[in-house]
Amino acid sequence: MNELLKIKEDALSQIEACPDLKVLNDLRVHFLGKKGPIQEAMKSMKTMAPEERAAFGQVSNEVKQAITAAIDEAKVKLEAAAINQKLAEEVIDITLPSFHVHEGTKHPLTMIEEEMEELFLGMGYQIAEGPEVELDHFNFELLNLPKDHPARDMQDTFYIDENTVMRTHTSPVQARTLLSAKGKGPIKIICPGKTYRKDDDDATHSHQFTQCEGLVIDENITMADLKGTLQVFADKIFGEGREIRFRPSFFPFTEPSVEVDISCFSCGGKGCSICKQTGWIEILGAGMVNPKVLDMCGFDSKKYQGFAFGIGLERVAMLKYGIDDIRHFYSSDLRFLNQFNRKDS
Ligand code: DAH
Repeated sequence: MNELLKIKEDALSQIEACPDLKVLNDLRVHFLGKKGPIQEAMKSMKTMAPEERAAFGQVSNEVKQAITAAIDEAKVKLEAAAINQKLAEEVIDITLPSFHVHEGTKHPLTMIEEEMEELFLGMGYQIAEGPEVELDHFNFELLNLPKDHPARDMQDTFYIDENTVMRTHTSPVQARTLLSAKGKGPIKIICPGKTYRKDDDDATHSHQFTQCEGLVIDENITMADLKGTLQVFADKIFGEGREIRFRPSFFPFTEPSVEVDISCFSCGGKGCSICKQTGWIEILGAGMVNPKVLDMCGFDSKKYQGFAFGIGLERVAMLKYGIDDIRHFYSSDLRFLNQFNRKDS
């Protein structure tokens, strides 16, 4: 019995002092295993009297339970200590200052383009696309500009070869859209996209620029529809209350043709530097689709009419954001681009 109590004391003090889980496991194997001191002491039971044996058995069980309980308790403590130690060792030092990450922003032309798309999609238009390297046939001929037509001089053209050009406007998408509709209306599209002209770059000219074309074809379309549509455009893009003015003009693909002015959004019509003291700002070209264009593109011009317009998006952005030089759009100068819609400064 004394032997058992000594084993217990010995075990408890070693468990108490145990430094880690591995040693604890060794202690468990040693004290509770088949070859351990308790098993050893129990061998002497064979020679004991029955009462003594029962008492011995009881004590040896109590000793085993006490050791098991002590080991379990120590295990919980050592496991927690191991986790804490790991956390302490693996702690991440987040005190080093990070680099400032600059978030990009939308290009001002993209902003205008998306504003236009949202506006016209809301009025039931679809967005059409066409190639930037375009056939003369679509860029000019189907738009009532045959070869050697003097109006071709209105647009200085980059020729790829005799029959291929960098499109000088987005109007060829009108011809493409009409042809693919195979003579059947209605059509309501806009086409924003890049365009090219052989201009020397300066504050108001760029050899590459952006237009947004509009085309509506149906029965009974009149100039009043064109005017109402452009009024919505002017109010949405330049603010409620704009007035619209049509001036007679000429484009081979529209008849009649107009230049469209809006009342100056800066001075309200009184005259200022933006409207050059006139109270009006020229904003786009438009007109009723020339019946010749409809016929050439497979539409019956007796049944269908339509209107079309072409807007220079740089000009819209320059007016809206007070930009004084078209080259800013293409210089990729962050000092310019950072002025638009920044979120992180
Ligand atoms: N394509 C013309 C240009 O580049 C702009 C234009 C004028 C487009 C009248 C049209 C229109 O659709 O009806 O200068």
